[in-house]
Amino acid sequence: MTKCTKLLLFSICSLLFACHDAPKKIKSNSESNTHETIATFDLESAIDNCESQLETSVPKLTDLTKHPRLIETNEKEWKEVPNGRLVWTSGFYPGILWYMYDLTKDEKWKTEAIKRTEVFEDYKTITEHHDIGFMMFPAFGNGYKLGDKKEYKDILLTSAKSLVSRYNPKVGTIKSWSNKMHPRWQQHITIIDNMLNLELLFWAAKNGGDSELKDIAIKHAETTMKNHFRDDYTSWHVIEYDSITGSVLNHHTKQGYADDSRWSRGQAWGIYGFSMVYRETGDKKFLDFAQKLSDRYLELLPEDYVPYWDFDVPNLEKEERDASAAAVVASGLLELSTFLEDTTQKQKYYNAALKMLSSLSSENYSGVGKANSFLLHSTGAKSLGSEIDVALIYADYYYIEALDRLKKIKSQKEVAQL
Ligand code: GLY
Repeated sequence: MTKCTKLLLFSICSLLFACHDAPKKIKSNSESNTHETIATFDLESAIDNCESQLETSVPKLTDLTKHPRLIETNEKEWKEVPNGRLVWTSGFYPGILWYMYDLTKDEKWKTEAIKRTEVFEDYKTITEHHDIGFMMFPAFGNGYKLGDKKEYKDILLTSAKSLVSRYNPKVGTIKSWSNKMHPRWQQHITIIDNMLNLELLFWAAKNGGDSELKDIAIKHAETTMKNHFRDDYTSWHVIEYDSITGSVLNHHTKQGYADDSRWSRGQAWGIYGFSMVYRETGDKKFLDFAQKLSDRYLELLPEDYVPYWDFDVPNLEKEERDASAAAVVASGLLELSTFLEDTTQKQKYYNAALKMLSSLSSENYSGVGKANSFLLHSTGAKSLGSEIDVALIYADYYYIEALDRLKKIKSQKEVAQL
């Protein structure tokens, strides 16, 4: 072999080795020190930034029949879409305004929130899909809880009744989507996202609704826990059940990379959802499950704590991130941390959430100075070719919710130290 051939072979081997080795750069966080205290996250300036982003965008969003949904890559202005009955994102914008009111107590945000909430009261009768929970609870639920709008109670109770009409007792879950709109499936389909809609049922059962609403929410969570997760505690997106026997027919996806891949936001919905179900039931099996889902998610994250849109997409490092998943998980983990008595466990989830918020608030992900959103770099549905590396309204919603939760946790700590 000539010196030149050897050099060529060496270069090819080095290149192959480098390619093979590339994923190692995506450091697992399982071994990283999530217990160390984060001193760098500046909550007050994160809140101030959100407020100044709203000061800029709110005066431009004047059409009450629409809501801001996304900002395209490298653009600045929100793209508005109609508040349709089939549009799952309708409630997040009013929800953001309610959180801004809660954080600042400035009446102008309350006035704006009321205006944007009350325009879609009629959607309380939606029975054509499960998203009524995502639509009504951030808007009317937050108005009731944060804005003292007790008159929203009946709207929320009616919404809960509408949601529960999709429950199939043979399966033990609420049917998420209609087969007409999602013709790949002919039977009962439940998606992991549906966990979030259960909060509306728990709320209704506590606030004058039928106690059966809580039983159904628990049954849905138990069935999901049984069928929706792999042995490694990662989630499938869509489960198709036999509508008559309740048996599992298929494990599929709509927004993930492949039927058997691990879609990041799906895992995020699971973490958030099971933490919330523990809050509402006090049943330790849900707490334990939420921790298992969180531990797996943390292991799969890249170093900056913002996931790629799917954990299993090839050439991961060339793929887009999903800041919305990071925001959902940050909010979920903050809540989870409050349930744990063991200090090490508590700190683990609290610090991980702070690392997520810190990363999201950095110039790598913040919309400040670039666009009118709080966050950039979310991915709605890359597998469907839509909303890739954009700002998304629900990313902003869960981000500001996390800031609100963090502020409350901090003020409780201050009270405890008095
Ligand atoms: N619930 C819809 C989504 O996560 O995209």
